[in-house]
Amino acid sequence: MLSISVKEFLFWKKKQLSKGGDDESLSVLLDCIGGISTKDINLLKINHTGNIYLKKNLDHLESIWEYHLLNLEPIQYLCGITFWRDLKLKVSNKVLIPRPETELIVDIVLKIFGRETQNLLFAELGTGSGAISIALSLAYPSWDGIATDIDQDALEVATLNYINSSNQSNLKFFCGHWWNPFESYKGKLDLAISNPPYIPRDIYEKLPKEVKNFEPKIALLGGEDGLKHIHEIIQKAPLFLKDKGWLIIENHFDQGEKVKQLFIENKFKLVEIVKDLSGVGRFTIGRYK
Ligand SMILES: C[S@@+](CC[C@H](N)C(=O)[O-])C[C@H]1O[C@@H](n2cnc3c(N)ncnc32)[C@H](O)[C@@H]1O
Repeated sequence: MLSISVKEFLFWKKKQLSKGGDDESLSVLLDCIGGISTKDINLLKINHTGNIYLKKNLDHLESIWEYHLLNLEPIQYLCGITFWRDLKLKVSNKVLIPRPETELIVDIVLKIFGRETQNLLFAELGTGSGAISIALSLAYPSWDGIATDIDQDALEVATLNYINSSNQSNLKFFCGHWWNPFESYKGKLDLAISNPPYIPRDIYEKLPKEVKNFEPKIALLGGEDGLKHIHEIIQKAPLFLKDKGWLIIENHFDQGEKVKQLFIENKFKLVEIVKDLSGVGRFTIGRYK
């Protein structure tokens, strides 16, 4: 551990932010590589005296920060870690960095089922880093979860994250195309969730470099109109859900009405567009019959 005065540290931090980037990314770097949490940094702002201890020296941290600014590579990939809800998750460039807005999916589940519902079976399609499924399996230890991804490398990240976050064995991972690995679960699911690739091609082509150059295309591109995967997931969901089973889909900000129609065409009831914290209709939910 390296000792450094709080004043010097705060001056250094301000200098880094003056070069560009955002406070949140710098906090990820400081926590994951520097070994000082955001909570501890906030406390320093109240008391400027004394020393703090870092795992790496400021020059080392500065070199990673400058690399991030120059190459636009997300700091989460450079550090190999991201924070999502109360989880600390490993990420590599094989998985999408789970977004803060997606955190709300867990709250939607909590709202539908409450905290006390026992022994349900849920499925997640396209689990990536495993964030959603891991959060649910921790929130509901009596539930069983099954999660798929098309990418075996992503599933390795998800499996590692699950092992690091939980000492339970209520979540299983399967490799394959959307519902295909779930043949033996037909008619058995109480809940299915997916945050599939939903970006339309023209928008994908214009995505900021920090997304397009680093995050997996397979996790983002949803075909020409963005609805290719959403369509398939909704259409096949009735085969796998129990009667009164729920489907929750995350969609692009402007797809809510179209996704709602797809739910209705496929015999879902109680269909609703749920807004995220910015007021965007980010999720569509419905109950099968
Ligand atoms: C938008 S990412 C979501 C990742 C994670 N669930 C999250 O919310 O951060 C979509 C995920 O779907 C996976 N995927 C893409 N095509 C798929 C397919 N045909 N079948 C299964 N998974 C697929 C991608 O590999 C990626 O992990």
